[in-house]
Amino acid sequence: MKNTAPRKVEHQQTDRGYVPVYATGVVEQPWANYSKTEHEVWDTLFQRQRELLPGRACKEFMQGVERFGLGDGGIPKFSELNQVLKAATQWEIVAVEGLLPDEVFFDHLANRRFHDMFGHVPLLLNPVFADYMQAYGRGGMKAFKIGREALMNLTRLYWYTVEFGLMNSDEGLRIYGAGIVSSKGESIYSLDSPSPNRIGFDIERVMSTRYRIDTYQQTYFVIENFEQLFDATRPDFTPIYAKLHELPAHAAGDVLDDDRVFTRGDRVGWANGADT
Ligand SMILES: [Fe+2]
Repeated sequence: MKNTAPRKVEHQQTDRGYVPVYATGVVEQPWANYSKTEHEVWDTLFQRQRELLPGRACKEFMQGVERFGLGDGGIPKFSELNQVLKAATQWEIVAVEGLLPDEVFFDHLANRRFHDMFGHVPLLLNPVFADYMQAYGRGGMKAFKIGREALMNLTRLYWYTVEFGLMNSDEGLRIYGAGIVSSKGESIYSLDSPSPNRIGFDIERVMSTRYRIDTYQQTYFVIENFEQLFDATRPDFTPIYAKLHELPAHAAGDVLDDDRVFTRGDRVGWANGADT
């Protein structure tokens, strides 16, 4: 795609601080500007996760890492990753500046463009997950038009799948969420700690559950496979949004009577205070 110079729109207060928001945020990856230290930091963090994740991350993720040849020295060049990615699933990684407004973010996904490296990119090589991400982007474009509450329901789906999802694989519970695989602590906690709940994925349940942005998750939702996830995004969400609108949201740590419970958390160490 053509790069457009970022046009600064405004500063916004977000949970990531006071940040500039750009209407068109796609820029050239500033690869030549990365310092030796930045490359070394990347290598160190990458190596650490690469040693930790076998047996923890799902095999689709590990296959993606190997196929990209990530970790072969320094911050990867998007242009090189894109050759592999485009050939496999027609996705493309782009560099962006600032925090993208929701609508722009969804538009990128709907057109198979992503930004935000380590955790997300390996799975974009998986055809079913790649389709799910695009379907999510299209759903986002729709939800954006419906309104704030629909957007919140959809954001929870993203949070509990793309960022913090677990999978009930043949080898046992595995991580596929990007927010987990990029954190050493949560890569261990999400699978090994007795503290959080691990509950079977159900789309309405997930869309009505608040989450934590300040701590590890109190609940992880477990999918069977990526096909289940993609199938769940097939129907139009409009009636689901309407139904959920009438019902109260669940707290991040709630366990409900009709949940399929893999493990019920012992709640040790859970922070008090409001969920998002
Ligand atoms: Fe992310």
